[in-house]
Amino acid sequence: MRFDILTLFPEMFEGAFNASIISRARERGYIDIALHNIRDYAPGKHRVTDDTPYGGGGGMIMKPEPIFLAVESILNIDIPGEGYHSLHRQGYPPIVMLTPQGRLLKQPLAQEMTANFERLILICGRYEGIDERVRQYLATDELSIGDYVLSGGEIAAMIVVDVLTRLIPGVLGDEAATAKDSHSGGLLEHPHYTRPPEFRGHGIPEILLSGHHAKLEQWRREQSLARTLARRPDLLAQANLSDSDRAYLAQLQQPGEPE
Ligand code: ADE
Repeated sequence: MRFDILTLFPEMFEGAFNASIISRARERGYIDIALHNIRDYAPGKHRVTDDTPYGGGGGMIMKPEPIFLAVESILNIDIPGEGYHSLHRQGYPPIVMLTPQGRLLKQPLAQEMTANFERLILICGRYEGIDERVRQYLATDELSIGDYVLSGGEIAAMIVVDVLTRLIPGVLGDEAATAKDSHSGGLLEHPHYTRPPEFRGHGIPEILLSGHHAKLEQWRREQSLARTLARRPDLLAQANLSDSDRAYLAQLQQPGEPE
């Protein structure tokens, strides 16, 4: 998968993309990340990328032209007057704007994006916002990573790249690992322990030392269900639950029963 990231602050990505799983995925050719500084595409001696908003109101707005020019250069296209969407329909890649007004990124959407897209163009906004014509005539999608406002789209873009990359088959090595992740089956993950078996007087659940595989799997499933019920009951409505999962949850919710 290839990511083209348009940003005014490419240096922000250095740490996130040059360590651990993302770095290894790049080295092994699972992903290719190109950072593009929007300022490089701004016309004029001063390479101005922002301006004051029409109608006043303070703050600065990112100008549309440098962003359109960046996309035209990266894709080697001329965007027609009616906008990019006709090109997108002909097979050109999605252009995703990171904004708190976008569709909320959740694990199923990430799975869908990883499965369907070979290339993504990510636009990181800064200042008070981006000229609306970028949204209207360039972006094909808008994504938010959560209901809070970041100082810019860069951290959101890092998150999108991270979440999608670890879903690419082979990236984590263990194919099963992402299937067990929190959220992947609609539930939170069970707790994990490693050596030592006793740490500062605190032991681990006995089942983990029993070597009884089926019971261990049942314990993990129940932990996962109990955690989701306690912390994120909203997730249960969409989760993939068996009859025995439902029975266990019903038992947990019996008044007076210990959890
Ligand atoms: N830019 C600012 N806040 C954001 C958010 N929550 N998600 C995506 N991009 C953003």
